[in-house]
Amino acid sequence: MKVAIYAGSFDPLTLGHLDIIKRSLNIVDKLIIGVGENVRKKYLFTVQERINMINLSLKDHSNQNFEIKAFNGLLVDFANTENASFIVRGIRGVTDFDYEFQMGMANQDLNSNIETLFLLPKRDYIFISSSTVKEISYFKKDISKYVPVPVLEAFNKKFNE
Ligand code: COA
Repeated sequence: MKVAIYAGSFDPLTLGHLDIIKRSLNIVDKLIIGVGENVRKKYLFTVQERINMINLSLKDHSNQNFEIKAFNGLLVDFANTENASFIVRGIRGVTDFDYEFQMGMANQDLNSNIETLFLLPKRDYIFISSSTVKEISYFKKDISKYVPVPVLEAFNKKFNE
């Protein structure tokens, strides 16, 4: 069984992430969506809020084999614990490539049994990132083009309560 990890902070999940998740589900037998803590980042949403948003955004895919889990520590260790042989990463452009290349090489060095699979985004989603979405929302502009409905609702709840 081909098990893959797709990890990120998902603060919040965007349509770009969702596109990578849906396409990965068509490639692997099981996808573990790892909600990680990047020690260099400050988060708007708690891990549980981020997990809930992903869960709700994937409710039409409940017949597909995925799990959403929080993780700390190294990605390769998480992959190992989950019996995953693949790490899925999205590359949106040359700036992502530098970082992804470094991380992929480090992961390969740490565990050579785990392969990194790179997926290209759909063109519409190339410029979207979680920070862009948060910035647009901060200035009270519409983010509905960039995020799934449950994420939009979570923003409304957070800023109107
Ligand atoms: N669509 C939209 N946005 C995307 C995207 C896509 N397909 N792919 C990446 N992004 C965005 C993310 O939203 C994030 O945006 P932000 O910086 O505005 O928040 C940015 O690109 C970077 O994404 P990513 O590289 O996945 O970072 P992350 O912070 O979301 O998650 C971890 C990083 C947790 C997966 C990573 O730090 C990790 O694996 N940590 C464990 C430690 C480890 O093993 N390190 C490697 C070996 S040293």
